[in-house]
Amino acid sequence: MNSSEIRKNFLDYFNKRGHAVVPSSSLIPDDPSVLLTTAGMQQFKKYYTGEADALKDFCSKSTASIQKSFRTSDIDEVGDESHLTFFEMLGNFSFGGYFKREAITYAHEFITKVMQLPISYVTVFEGSATVPKDEESRAIWQELGIVDIREEGMDDVFWGPTGTSGPCGPTAEIYCKNASGKDIEVWNIVFNQFMCSGSREELLSGNATLSPLDIFGIDTGMGLERLAMISQSTKTIFETDLFSPLMDLLPQSMDVRTKRIIADHARGTAFLLSEGVQPSNKERGYVLRRLLRRIIVHEYLAHETPFPLENILSAAVREYRGFYPELNEQTVLKEFATEKEKFLKTLKNGLKELQKLENLTPQNAFKLYESYGLPFEIIKEIGGDRAASLSRASFDEEFKKHQEISRAGLEKKFGGHGLLLDTGELKAKDEQELKIVTRLHTATHLLQQALRTVLGEAVSQKGSDITVERTRFDFSFDRKLMPEEIQEVEQVINDIIQKDLPVQKVELPIDEAKKTGALYFFSAKGGSASGGKEKYPDHVNIYFVGNSLEEAFSKEFCGGPHVTRTGEIGKVKIAKEEAVAAGIRRIRAVVE
Ligand code: ALA
Repeated sequence: MNSSEIRKNFLDYFNKRGHAVVPSSSLIPDDPSVLLTTAGMQQFKKYYTGEADALKDFCSKSTASIQKSFRTSDIDEVGDESHLTFFEMLGNFSFGGYFKREAITYAHEFITKVMQLPISYVTVFEGSATVPKDEESRAIWQELGIVDIREEGMDDVFWGPTGTSGPCGPTAEIYCKNASGKDIEVWNIVFNQFMCSGSREELLSGNATLSPLDIFGIDTGMGLERLAMISQSTKTIFETDLFSPLMDLLPQSMDVRTKRIIADHARGTAFLLSEGVQPSNKERGYVLRRLLRRIIVHEYLAHETPFPLENILSAAVREYRGFYPELNEQTVLKEFATEKEKFLKTLKNGLKELQKLENLTPQNAFKLYESYGLPFEIIKEIGGDRAASLSRASFDEEFKKHQEISRAGLEKKFGGHGLLLDTGELKAKDEQELKIVTRLHTATHLLQQALRTVLGEAVSQKGSDITVERTRFDFSFDRKLMPEEIQEVEQVINDIIQKDLPVQKVELPIDEAKKTGALYFFSAKGGSASGGKEKYPDHVNIYFVGNSLEEAFSKEFCGGPHVTRTGEIGKVKIAKEEAVAAGIRRIRAVVE
C-alpha cells in the first residue's frame, strides 16, 4: 500500500469508529518545557488530565491524527533500517471513552485486516513495584489469537510523561517483520492510567510519583514510515515511497548510510524551516543547525560527485506538500542558503583542524564546535577511528559545562546588588538572552499584579523561574483559572505595556519599604546568592511600574534587571496554566 493510501485508510478506519479526525499540531509544541513535538498525544494532554473536555471540543471522546513528530533521541541511530529524526505518527486517542479491549482490538484489526499484515509478536507490561503486571492486555491478545506475547519492563513498555509532568501508563507494542525478516516495532498502544508528577527521567529514577487519573485514556502511535516498510516489503524505510524520491537524487556511489542521513535530515530540515524554526546555537534552533550543517558537510565533501542539496530539499517539499500544505519551498531554500553561506566560511578551516588532531577528546571536539561550528555528528563521522572514544554524552557534558561557565559569569555580574529577588532565577547565557529574560522579568512583575487585579489579593508568588524561552510563575490560588480570566490577565498586562510606563527603582530602608505596600517574596529554597532563606538587608530596592511609587501599577522588592519602559516588553501571552500542588497554580508566559 502506498503511503497516501495508508494515511487515508488509517484515518477512515478510526473515523468510521467514531473518532474525530484532528489535524497534526505544529512541530513546535504549546508546552514551552518541551523542545519539539515528539508524539501525537502532546496536543491532547489536557483532555487526559480533565483540564479540557474532548466531547465539547471534538464532539467525541476519541480522536485520530497523523502527527508531525521529531525525536532528537534517535539522531545517532539514523542511517539504520528504521530510525529517523522527523517522522509521521499515526495515532488514535481516547479520553475516558474506550480502554484496553477496544484499543487492542482496533489495532489488531487494522494491522491484520486493513493492512493485511501478519503480527510477529506483541509485548505487555511485566509489572513494577508500583504498577501491577498487565494481565488484562495479555488475555485480550490471547483471545485474538496472538501466540507470542512477551513481557517487558518500565524502560520499554511504559510511556511518558512528555515534558515536566503529565499522563502516563503501561503500553503494549505490535511487532511485524520487514523484508529481511527483522522484527520491527510498528505500533505502541499506551494505556494512560496515571498522572506523573515529574519527567520521564525522574519517573525512571524513582524521583516522581504516580497518582491515578480520574479518567483513563488511550494514546497510540504508529510510525508511518515503518508501517510503509512492512506493507511495501522493503528492507528499510528508505526504500519506501516516502523516501525513494529523495534517495534517487543522491549519487549512486555514495555510502548508503550517508545517503539515508541526508534524506532524513533534508526532510526534517524542510519541515522545521517551514514551521519558522531558525538555525541558532540553542534549543530547537540548535537541533536544526546540526541537521543542516551535517548535510552541508556531506555536500561539501562529495565534490567529485556533486549533488545539489537544494534539489533534495525541493523534492522533500514537493513530495509532502500535498498532505502538509504548510511546507514552503521559498522559505526552506532561503534559510538554507543563509546557513550554508555562514557555515562554509569556517567549514574548511574546521575540517583542516579536525584532520590535524590525533585523538578527539570532548574538549577539543567542543573547541571545534565553538570555533568552527562543526557539530558533534560531523566530528564523530569525519574523525573515524580517532573519534572512537568520543561519546555524545561526554560532548554534551562539555557543552553544558561551557554554558554553566557563561551563566556563572552572568550571575556574578548581577550579584552584589543586595538583591531580594534571587537573580539566579533568571537564566540567560549571553547578552542577547539577557535582553529577553529582562523583558520577561518585568513581564513577570506585571503578571503578578494583573493576577491580583483579576483574582484578588489571595494571589501571592510562590516561585518564579525565567529562561529565554518563557517565564514560569507559581502562585497561590485554589482553583483552575477560567479562559476569560486568563484573557483578562493578558489584557491587563498588555494595557500596561501599551501605555509604555517607566519602570523605576528606589532604594529605601527596610521598614519604610515595607510600608509602601510593595510585594515581596521569600523563596523557601533560598536564593543562590545567599544559599539559604533570604534575610533583608537594611536597605532594599523596590522596582515600580508607573510615574510615581504612590500611583504605581506594580511595586516589588527586587534586584532587577528590568526594562526601562514597559513598551520594551512586547506582547505578553500566557502559554499555559496548570496546577503544581494543592492550592498552587503555575503559569507559563512568553513575550512576542
Ligand atoms: N505516545 C506513544 C508513543 O509516542 C504512543 O509511542
